[in-house]
Amino acid sequence: MQTKTIEVIDLPKILDKRGNLSIVEEFRNVPFKIERVYWIYDVPGGEVRGGHAYKKSEEFIIALSGSFDVILDDAVYVRKYTLNRSYYGIYVPEGIWRRMENFSTNSLALVLASTPYEPDDYIFDYEEFVKIKKESNDGI
Ligand code: TYD
Repeated sequence: MQTKTIEVIDLPKILDKRGNLSIVEEFRNVPFKIERVYWIYDVPGGEVRGGHAYKKSEEFIIALSGSFDVILDDAVYVRKYTLNRSYYGIYVPEGIWRRMENFSTNSLALVLASTPYEPDDYIFDYEEFVKIKKESNDGI
């Protein structure tokens, strides 16, 4: 049984008149060990990132600046999450088709991942993704 679910997670927020501060710690705010951090920036208007699923990697996505939409598809439901604040993020378990779009000017997407980069972890073919999901019934 797949017990991991997509979740919007609020991060601690230290309000200060000198400027606010937020924190993310592995196993405390995100439910995995952080093996990799990458960020997406300078996205030209109208561009779409992602459009794939991971077999193993879990991710936590934060809009550090600006805003963008994360579209998540578990082969049954498709949901859109708009990220536009740096004090929360979205947890994406493995086995979810994901796409990021509608990036605002100067937006900055921070992605924490549970695995090192591994090209073989990607599923790029949507039909294959749906087939694998249906076969496994409840996850990859
Ligand atoms: P990709 O994951 O396809 O980006 P997106 O999902 O945002 O469209 O990665 C784009 C390119 O960057 C691809 O050539 C692989 C490379 N890349 C790495 O080398 N290491 C990484 O950790 C990531 C995420 C990508």
